[in-house]
Amino acid sequence: MPAPAGENDPALVAAGRARIEWADGQMPVLRSIRERLAAERPLGGLRIGACLHVTAETACLMQALAAGGAEVALCAANPLTTQDEVAAALREDGCATHGRRGEDADAYVEGIVAVVGERPQVTLDDGADLLTFIHAGRTELLPELVGGTEETTTGLVRLRALELACPVIAVNEARTERLFNDHYGTGQSTLDGILRATNLLLAGRTLVILGYGWTGKGVALRARGAGAQVIVCEIDPMRALEARMEGFEVMPALVAAERGDVFVTVTGSRDVLGAEHFARMKDGAVLANAGHFDVEIDLPALHGAAPDPPRDVLPLVTQFDLGGRRLNLLASGRVVNLAAGQGHPAAVMDMSFANQALAVEHLVRHGAELGPGVHPVPEAVDREVARLKLASLGVEIDVPSAEQEQYMRGWGAG
Ligand SMILES: NC(=O)c1ccc[n+]([C@@H]2O[C@H](COP(=O)([O-])OP(=O)(O)OC[C@H]3O[C@@H](n4cnc5c(N)ncnc54)[C@H](O)[C@@H]3O)[C@@H](O)[C@H]2O)c1
Repeated sequence: MPAPAGENDPALVAAGRARIEWADGQMPVLRSIRERLAAERPLGGLRIGACLHVTAETACLMQALAAGGAEVALCAANPLTTQDEVAAALREDGCATHGRRGEDADAYVEGIVAVVGERPQVTLDDGADLLTFIHAGRTELLPELVGGTEETTTGLVRLRALELACPVIAVNEARTERLFNDHYGTGQSTLDGILRATNLLLAGRTLVILGYGWTGKGVALRARGAGAQVIVCEIDPMRALEARMEGFEVMPALVAAERGDVFVTVTGSRDVLGAEHFARMKDGAVLANAGHFDVEIDLPALHGAAPDPPRDVLPLVTQFDLGGRRLNLLASGRVVNLAAGQGHPAAVMDMSFANQALAVEHLVRHGAELGPGVHPVPEAVDREVARLKLASLGVEIDVPSAEQEQYMRGWGAG
């Protein structure tokens, strides 16, 4: 694969290292795991292929795995999210890294091909592109696979639909991951992406959230905190009820379409906003997607609804004129917190990547016992990540007495 431009540019490498160092400072949990892995070297000689967002936080994960003895190759999980300076620093420091911000679809696939070329024994995915690629076209590698990890909901949907040849640990479903990544992380960074792209004042605006799952709840919470009127659209009665009980307005998307100033899709589904919704939206409405793929807003329908070609009115804002009503699409409908913002804060990725690193270690130690299929993150891993995070915050908690433990386990006492 051709060397990406600037990879040996010392200024780029220095900027990348500085960014990685900053992230490392926000990731005390992963750092403590890295120190233990470096001492114990449980990953000695293991080939790891990762298809993750090429960011400073991911670089810290790569360093932790390398410290544990693994050979690591990395490619981008999204063409728009690569931090070129981080990629340059990683390459300079010996981690085979593929990806460039804004690369086209061919270059994106080339990155995956290059990582697969390293014959990974463990895969790390954010969207399942790497592991599905191996299952679809490089089946000779399957017997060598110890297992994989998956970072996001959409990736898990794909992997559960696939007849897997190896165990995959659903990092995305760890409790610590859900709480920090989906809820607090996406909640804050989605709004951050929207604000960076538009510089809107949220207070007083009506923000419509489509999908009140782990991520949607986080966005709703932060949007309310910023003073927005929040409307939730759902298809699941339990989640819709939760939203209502939390004090949000709940209504069908077609009704909300007339009310919203800002729309955020975060469902994991497709065409959640389509032609019928666009036809009802107000002039100036902003459309953003925080779901994994750029299919939640029906882009062909949006293009079809505007008589003239859209205009880029700001670097990340594309405006569609629907006969006098202008709709503003952010980041081409791609995942807004990554494409328009800096993604999750490093402190959030600390929890995700601590789970990732411990999941890899678990696969190496216990992968053979797991069998093919998607497996939960072991409870012990989840608790260890929470324990390390509390320790990093200087928070201590109580320990139940032997009598309390026995009482809570038994059935005899009333
Ligand atoms: N941007 C990020 O950084 C980030 C982080 C985590 C997850 N995600 C992505 O966000 C999406 C949602 O993830 P999640 O973990 O919140 O999933 P989830 O399953 O917890 O929540 C999704 C919710 O959307 C609802 N929904 C589905 N179709 C709908 C529709 N047509 N209209 C309204 N609601 C609908 C579901 O009922 C569910 O409650 C996935 O694509 C996931 O990969 C993105």
